[in-house]
Amino acid sequence: MFLKIVKTLAFNILIYKMSKFSLFMQVCTSSKNYEILFVGGETYQSIGAKILSHFNAKSYIILTEKNIPSEYYNGIYHYLEANGANIHLIKLDSIGEKNKDFKVLTKVSKSIFENVTLTRNSVLIAIGGGVIGDLGGFLASILMRGIRFVQMPTTLLAMTDSSIGGKTGINAFGYKNVIGAFYQPDMVICNANYLKTLPYEEYISGYAEILKHAILTKEHVDFLPDLLKNEHKIASRDMRFLTGIIKISCQIKANIVSRDEREQNGVRAFLNFGHTIAHAVEKLKELDGRILHGHAVAIGMIAELKLAYKLGYFKDYELISILETHFENIKLPARLEQLIEVNSRVYRQILAKVTLDKKNHRNIGEDIMISFAIPKKIGAMENIRISLSSLKKLLSDIL
Ligand SMILES: NC(=O)c1ccc[n+]([C@@H]2O[C@H](COP(=O)([O-])OP(=O)(O)OC[C@H]3O[C@@H](n4cnc5c(N)ncnc54)[C@H](O)[C@@H]3O)[C@@H](O)[C@H]2O)c1
Repeated sequence: MFLKIVKTLAFNILIYKMSKFSLFMQVCTSSKNYEILFVGGETYQSIGAKILSHFNAKSYIILTEKNIPSEYYNGIYHYLEANGANIHLIKLDSIGEKNKDFKVLTKVSKSIFENVTLTRNSVLIAIGGGVIGDLGGFLASILMRGIRFVQMPTTLLAMTDSSIGGKTGINAFGYKNVIGAFYQPDMVICNANYLKTLPYEEYISGYAEILKHAILTKEHVDFLPDLLKNEHKIASRDMRFLTGIIKISCQIKANIVSRDEREQNGVRAFLNFGHTIAHAVEKLKELDGRILHGHAVAIGMIAELKLAYKLGYFKDYELISILETHFENIKLPARLEQLIEVNSRVYRQILAKVTLDKKNHRNIGEDIMISFAIPKKIGAMENIRISLSSLKKLLSDIL
């Protein structure tokens, strides 16, 4: 028995180490299988060549935005053009959530129809963060009832989270991501070097989702300790280390998505760890539109771990303290009070927001039950419901 455990452990460590060196990864879902290519050291010509040989299409659209350095797409543009493709570049002049909007969708569609001979074989290449990926993916899903689609993520959040799994969409009527589609890409091209130009707070905001993956993975038990002991490499954006952890994180997301593409059996819901509180924090009057998603997720993860501890689901309080220190060291917030004054008005707003989130609650008898995905321990996730009245009592202890 002991020997078997040692062998399994050694095997897992070997797999963990080998995964860090993989050059590509297969994502298998019920609707589509596709590859994530890790292209760190390659020239833009060779990335262009990969796209051309994979798709062999007559027309390509590159969708990007003004903050994305032109060298991330110019080389690919010129390579495709030089090889006879009809290629149209759309560079949005606004950034952020404003681009996930009907007006932008219409403007971009019009530009495509005016400049491209579109067929279902055409390829849309989204080069940018989660915003461009979500907008581009949704556009690809509706143009001609679905054209081919490449994700080239340029933020850490997009590399390890939003470019994988096929959730696409735009915001409308004051709600996030309410118009959209599940539409898997045909290829993801991941180049960690793009992170060098990303502002630090955007970069570290994306890291919060990596840490979330490390807490929920059952397969990569070494991942969390590896992150915790290498915070200087994380903070200094050590490219070798980053490339490795991006690959592991992609593998964890891909694994979850392949087990539950459309959030039907509870497995994909594990990714909501930290997010019930995070979504409420993001909508606080004081922070609305001003807090980065990953910062809210960091606060949400700590709060939900404390909640799980208070309710007896999660026993390891020391780990919560370790995570708080880790966040402090890499400049991620761990507690709401680090950002704003937390008072009874803030608690009331949070309770109102978690109750409003339809995905998160349902009535049972008199009480409202709020959904949380929490770890019972590292690698053992559970979807639970906590009554609003219990949450209300504990809120001041967890935020
Ligand atoms: N589809 C999914 O599964 C999924 C998952 C999580 C989040 N999301 C969505 O992702 C979006 C957030 O994504 P994000 O955090 O990448 O934000 P983002 O796309 O707005 O990018 C963040 C900022 O960084 C800039 N930027 C991007 N790459 C850069 C680079 N390499 N160098 C310099 N600047 C760069 C952008 O202009 C922007 O100002 C949200 O809309 C969210 O809803 C989607």
